[in-house]
Amino acid sequence: MEKKVVTLNVNDTDYELYINPKTLLVEAIRDHIGLTGTKRGCETVSCGACTVLVNGAAVKGCSVLAVQCDGMKITTSEGLEKNGKLAPIQKAFLDEGSYQCGFCTSGMLMATSGLLNENAKPTKEEIKESIEGNICRCTGYNSIVRAVERVAKGQYKEDSL
Ligand code: FES
Ligand code: FES
Repeated sequence: MEKKVVTLNVNDTDYELYINPKTLLVEAIRDHIGLTGTKRGCETVSCGACTVLVNGAAVKGCSVLAVQCDGMKITTSEGLEKNGKLAPIQKAFLDEGSYQCGFCTSGMLMATSGLLNENAKPTKEEIKESIEGNICRCTGYNSIVRAVERVAKGQYKEDSL
């Protein structure tokens, strides 16, 4: 199949890729750009490990082709930190111990970041819904929900971390 040129803006840097049009977004991010914080799990849109933000909204990276994201703004877990400072959601995950092996963590961070982008004060139910498509085999979900609640309560200031 003829390769295509695709431009992805990932974490505020433009990447021009020459790729097979069947390349999944998660493959483009990990294998072509080299950002391995985004995990490849099931590749059947079931586990959520590959979740990133596409134009600010949480999207599973195995559910879309990279060519469908041409010209779009992608944020991965590596892009949450700004100027060496953790984002509030990262700090909250640390404070709540919302991770164990860490395989799901990047996807959980991005799914909940997507929620907070569209709704800064989500209810517990809305938080649970936002991670419905993300599987964690270790920690359980309560500490993740508590972390998002902390951010929603305004416990962290972007510039004070
Ligand atoms: S790898 Fe994409 S949902 Fe599992
Ligand atoms: S921390 Fe291990 S899968 Fe979630």
